[in-house]
Amino acid sequence: MSGAPPPRTCAGTRAPRPAVGVPPEDGGSQPVPVARRTGTRAAAGTAMDDDGPVTRATLEKDPSEVAAMFDEVAARYDLTNTVLSLGQDRGWRRAVAQALDLQPGERVLDLAAGTATSSAALARSGADVVGCDFSLGMLEVGRRARHEGVELVAGDALHLPFRDASFDAVTISFGLRNTQDIDVALAELRRVTRPGGRMVVCEFSHPTWAPFRTVYVEYLMKALPAVATRVSSDPAAYVYLAESIRAWPDQAALAGRLQQAGWGSVGWRDLTGGIVALHRATSPGPSPA
Ligand SMILES: C[S@@+](CC[C@H](N)C(=O)[O-])C[C@H]1O[C@@H](n2cnc3c(N)ncnc32)[C@H](O)[C@@H]1O
Repeated sequence: MSGAPPPRTCAGTRAPRPAVGVPPEDGGSQPVPVARRTGTRAAAGTAMDDDGPVTRATLEKDPSEVAAMFDEVAARYDLTNTVLSLGQDRGWRRAVAQALDLQPGERVLDLAAGTATSSAALARSGADVVGCDFSLGMLEVGRRARHEGVELVAGDALHLPFRDASFDAVTISFGLRNTQDIDVALAELRRVTRPGGRMVVCEFSHPTWAPFRTVYVEYLMKALPAVATRVSSDPAAYVYLAESIRAWPDQAALAGRLQQAGWGSVGWRDLTGGIVALHRATSPGPSPA
């Protein structure tokens, strides 16, 4: 495969630029990485099927590989999540909404919104939710679900297509780990949050009780890929999932990264014994120039 094809719409047809739901507010959006199959780094992390390489991002997180991998799993993403998390995902989403404490009429950004299931959980508060993601395949699944109170926008976490201080609150569920540069993503989230606004990061983390951690790592590396083979449309993506969770900073280290990015009042809460952690923070003021 040679050269990057032009961006495509959710439906997979070619278009001059990706567009889902409302356009960016200030017209200042950056090009969104093109979601496509890629065979350029087979040795670094692809599996083979009859058609050739099946997309699987590597821990280097090349943006177009990550977007392509999520395009690939989009149709069965929510089902696979619920099966692999043994139904815990719904509770984790409720905990995010609770931590954000959204009020009706507030504007909240759900970054890396995927199929917008995380956005829909926020919209129940009466807040106006903007879901943003760079996988057009994931957004298309979300668009078809027609979640009330949710707008979907194609955009890259590293170059958010929104004005400074345009959200009362921002959140990202299971997305920060997938971004190529988490410090840039955290700085962008801060830029678009009004002074005093809140952020909640929901991400897989590290169980705090050692015996449970051992069992969990076994589940991640062995059982999870095996179950994904039965449920997901792209089991190789779930090998990436397991590896990326193991490589992710623990709770205290992630809190330090939030502070370095300029977020204040940083704290966290473990869910399901630390399988997931919710980090909370507030924006102290405008980003440094
Ligand atoms: C595991 S899914 C999470 C989806 C949703 N938040 C949820 O909780 O179900 C991760 C999402 O992050 C998105 N993502 C990864 N890197 C991104 C980036 N740089 N910009 C925008 N979206 C990104 C992927 O496309 C994918 O939809």
